[in-house]
Amino acid sequence: MGYAVYAAGEYITNLEANKPVIERISQKHRAIGIKSEQYPVVGETLLQAVRDVLGEAATDEIIEAWGKAYGYISDAFISLEKKLYEETEQQAGGWEGYRTAVATAFFNFY
Ligand code: HEM
Repeated sequence: MGYAVYAAGEYITNLEANKPVIERISQKHRAIGIKSEQYPVVGETLLQAVRDVLGEAATDEIIEAWGKAYGYISDAFISLEKKLYEETEQQAGGWEGYRTAVATAFFNFY
């Protein structure tokens, strides 16, 4: 858990340098169908992890800074993913989210 929190801090403080990484994560999120409204839940969990790892050292100021930084990076993800969802939807035969599909199998017995 400590490592995950540290890694998140690395991403947050180094947004520009991590652009290719952020693009790749967004592609992954797009493939899975992550929604913008899921970001606050993950943010709360991250803040709780920071509190758990830092213990007494987690002052209000530190938690607030993490909250702000998370807001910043999640905005970046959300807008990138919105763009990817729109692109996918506009492809020939594309759609957004889930779609009902019917699979037909044809068996030929000799
Ligand atoms: C700023 C916030 C977030 C960061 C920094 C982040 C980071 C990452 C990273 C690094 C990966 C692995 C990408 C790869 O395989 O190359 C990933 C995958 C994933 N993320 Fe996020 N993520 C964030 C928000 C979210 C949210 C809001 C959800 C929704 C619940 C989510 C769900 C997932 C899932 C399901 C995967 C795939 C896991 C797997 O392959 O087993 N993430 N994310």
